[in-house]
Amino acid sequence: MGATDLYEIMRCAPTTRRFTGDPVPRETLRRVLESARFAPSGGNRQGWRVVAVEDPGTRRALGALYLPHWRQYLQDNGAAAVLANPGDLDPVLVRRLRAADDFAENLHEVPLHLVVCVSLADLTITDAALERPSVVGGASVYPFVQNILLGLRFEGLGAALTTLLAPAEPEVKRLLGIPDGIALAAYVLVGARADPWPARLSRRSVDEFAFAERYGEPLG
Ligand SMILES: Cc1cc2nc3c(=O)[nH]c(=O)nc-3n(C[C@H](O)[C@H](O)[C@H](O)COP(=O)(O)O)c2cc1C
Repeated sequence: MGATDLYEIMRCAPTTRRFTGDPVPRETLRRVLESARFAPSGGNRQGWRVVAVEDPGTRRALGALYLPHWRQYLQDNGAAAVLANPGDLDPVLVRRLRAADDFAENLHEVPLHLVVCVSLADLTITDAALERPSVVGGASVYPFVQNILLGLRFEGLGAALTTLLAPAEPEVKRLLGIPDGIALAAYVLVGARADPWPARLSRRSVDEFAFAERYGEPLG
């Protein structure tokens, strides 16, 4: 189960949406966080916070807060229509969509929910003044989140990084007692994977996104 080579882990840490339901030992989570905390952050402010939720009632409440935003997302991108009437669309795509929908409906069954937050005062948002959506703020928390995903994969555990809980931030903060000044960055569902690990993930080739010297020039 356990991938041990760093490149192997980076290449095969897929989104897991079907779990066995077995609990995740607290010491495993602690081990992952012990290493994930060495992630970089702007000014080394380390503004991340993690709430690990195992309580069935709280998991159910979090799942219920996620679901309407998932449904809205399906509506907005046309996926709801695909699910209702798959016709002769690519069966792999339809299967993936169904799996993500089943996952959304049954989040409460995933044994460990990690609500990853960040202290807003600790963000260094160097692109805040530009006339476009800011992307830099998240850079002080998502390397930490990715470290968690890779660490879980190293431990042989599956995980799904999601963000559709973010629109429910006020309710989530009330539910978990998260103080002012702390924002929700990610909702990571964790557990033992029910299916075998895939042989490979579908990603663009290096030549499609990496350039040499000037944008668009082949890297070679
Ligand atoms: C920023 C971000 C937000 C995501 N949000 C969600 C989400 O809300 N729900 C979900 O089911 N998957 C979510 N995902 C998972 C993506 O769908 C997944 O990474 C992508 O489809 C690749 O799938 P794979 O890793 O299994 O190949 C998110 C991933 C990222 C990086």
